[in-house]
Amino acid sequence: MNSKKKTIPLNQYLADVSTLSYGCMGLGGGWNQNPVSRENINQAHQVVDTALQAGINLFDHADIYTMGKAEKVFGQVLTESPGLREKMYIQSKCAIRPADDSGPTRYDFSRQWVSSSVDNILTRLNSEYIDILLLHRPDPLMELDEIAETLYQLKNSGKVHHFGVSNMHQHQIAFLQSALDAPIVTNQIEISLDKLGWLEEGIMAGNPEGRDINFSAGTLEYCRLNNVQIQAWGSLARGLFSGRDTTGASAAVKGTSLLVSKLADKYQAPCEAVVLAWLMRHPARVQPVIGTTNLDRIKACCQAELVNLTREEWYSLYESARGQALP
Ligand SMILES: NC(=O)c1ccc[n+]([C@@H]2O[C@H](COP(=O)([O-])OP(=O)(O)OC[C@H]3O[C@@H](n4cnc5c(N)ncnc54)[C@H](OP(=O)(O)O)[C@@H]3O)[C@@H](O)[C@H]2O)c1
Repeated sequence: MNSKKKTIPLNQYLADVSTLSYGCMGLGGGWNQNPVSRENINQAHQVVDTALQAGINLFDHADIYTMGKAEKVFGQVLTESPGLREKMYIQSKCAIRPADDSGPTRYDFSRQWVSSSVDNILTRLNSEYIDILLLHRPDPLMELDEIAETLYQLKNSGKVHHFGVSNMHQHQIAFLQSALDAPIVTNQIEISLDKLGWLEEGIMAGNPEGRDINFSAGTLEYCRLNNVQIQAWGSLARGLFSGRDTTGASAAVKGTSLLVSKLADKYQAPCEAVVLAWLMRHPARVQPVIGTTNLDRIKACCQAELVNLTREEWYSLYESARGQALP
């Protein structure tokens, strides 16, 4: 097993972590009970090597991805190439419990579930620690003191170095933070050129037409004020603007794809890089999580840092993706 490591101080981690994160949800061979194959492990080796060589050093997991197999193949990669662990940060998530004989899909921040989930994550990853643990989705039945004590013990034991959340709005983060000694360092949410709520709630403030925007007002500002890194899942919009077949898509999608490819030509960069550069141009310094398993696409994504969109280009993409001019 990879040895225990002294916690890297938060400021050192923030200075060292890559701008992009690699999302491991596509590893492990699918959401089924089939055993992990040699092919699945080889794919994970290739993906990890490609991502590291292209400059990505943060790998994003969750205990549920491909029913535990994403972590399992990753752990096998670390076993077969033990030097890799020191070159990367690993974050994983827990607290989504898929439907089983005991009940429906549920979220669970109880001491017993979170502690045992972390132990299982570490076993699958073949690592004695993870750098960051994210609580995957807010649990309405969360007992504040219980989760605070659980996270404290996980940090104290050295099993988890830092904590974050996912899919939470600012009030949920503030509530949880109020009981924790350690800072919440990350909030991973779905934002992209295709999911614009994070911008729309600000742009449409006070405008009755904005009343149905499904993004909690002020979450972005809360995260920025409190140094909570915003990570974007679904950041590639699953290829919607960077090469996926758009037959039957809306005029906004088709127009935005065209604009992305024009900007790609201008910047001599792949379309994926433009899509991610649009997220990264925001001063919140959004950290995109990319979920592609295609090696060329991983390399293409890593060119995002070379694309510096002008204000006008950024707004053109925004307007095009929202399908109408700003108010
Ligand atoms: N916190 C959460 O609740 C949550 C939820 C979902 C995901 N995540 C994390 O975020 C990561 C990324 O999320 P995601 O995978 O949903 O979104 P994504 O990165 O936007 O999309 C990746 C998917 O899009 C496909 N794709 C990308 N470009 C394409 C193109 N030009 N043509 C065809 N297909 C294309 C990829 O296929 P190829 O592999 O063939 O490139 C892959 O299946 C995940 O791996 C996971 O780590 C977190």
